Amino acid sequence: MRVLSGIQPTGRPHWGNYFGAIRQYIQLQSEEKAYYFIANLHALTTIDDRQGANRLEQLTFDAALDLLALGLDPNQATLFVQSDVPEVSELCWILMARTPMGLLERCHAYKEKKSKGLSADVGLFTYPVLMAADILAYDADVVPVGEDQVQHIEVCRDLAASFNHRFGDTFVLPKAKVLEDAARVPGTDGEKMSKSYGNTIEVFEDPAAMRKKVKRIKMDSRPMEEPKAPDSDHLYQLFCLFATPEERDELAALYRRGGFGYGQVKEQLADVADRFLAGPREKRAELEAHPDRVREILAAGAASARAKATEVLRRAQEACGLRPA
Ligand code: ADP
Ligand code: TRP
Repeated sequence: MRVLSGIQPTGRPHWGNYFGAIRQYIQLQSEEKAYYFIANLHALTTIDDRQGANRLEQLTFDAALDLLALGLDPNQATLFVQSDVPEVSELCWILMARTPMGLLERCHAYKEKKSKGLSADVGLFTYPVLMAADILAYDADVVPVGEDQVQHIEVCRDLAASFNHRFGDTFVLPKAKVLEDAARVPGTDGEKMSKSYGNTIEVFEDPAAMRKKVKRIKMDSRPMEEPKAPDSDHLYQLFCLFATPEERDELAALYRRGGFGYGQVKEQLADVADRFLAGPREKRAELEAHPDRVREILAAGAASARAKATEVLRRAQEACGLRPA
């Protein structure tokens, strides 16, 4: 199985991003071949550049630090930055030349923007074609993505199938592997954790700040004595992300018995989260102190990714008459 996924450099990852996405990508790194890249070309369509010209560069580097600190192993998987493989942009044009307008007009990011009466950039409109080129350039057959990206994988399959139909077998048709929704992580207000709701706890938060946020998790005001159902309780759900099975069972039993305060559960949550995240936090600090090592990893990743993308681009160029076969 050849696995590939792109991660947008959107800033500091929170617990939801880790359990809902990053961890699941990393778990696939031991497959036959795994490619992970930081999608800086896609981020260019949304980046807030009022914050300075090197903002995207910094976010891209931070995303690499985050992934490496969280267990992405460059000896197992190829980690690189999207724009370091220019072959993909060329492949994107080859695909765009015969992409029906209607196919992209149906894509949700563009459609939503239009429906709000906002004007969209061509970059947003053609975003799914670049994503298709990303995938096809590495002969990926499995693409782990969140539910919101499934439509883009369908576009990729459509474009690949239609190219193969017209010019002969050239591209591998990929399948989406939808990330487990079971991992939906609640935020400090009990709603889904999300940057846009301001209810996040970051993975690399320093321990004191994290404990403070945990203490502020909103809970109901039922009396301490009352027994409570653990599974529907967001504090218990958060605890489960970090705890061992025995610790989960113990806390669930306490919930069912009643006679406890949320304050004490919050302390326990902060303890298990801290235990879980201490290693990655240290690893990140160490990598941050040695940026050259990270740059070397990305350079080696780009070299390996380019070799593959060059091979696939040639195949496509030969198939459609841009290069003698
Ligand atoms: P946000 O909602 O904070 O802006 P993103 O949309 O950037 O997060 O999410 C990036 C990835 O993290 C997506 O694949 C998404 O499915 C996953 N993710 C985000 N929030 C959560 C959450 N609360 N629970 C599970 N997964 C999440
Ligand atoms: N569009 C994806 C997202 O926003 C990121 C991405 C870019 C991607 N290219 C990709 C994901 C190729 C999977 C495969 O999350």
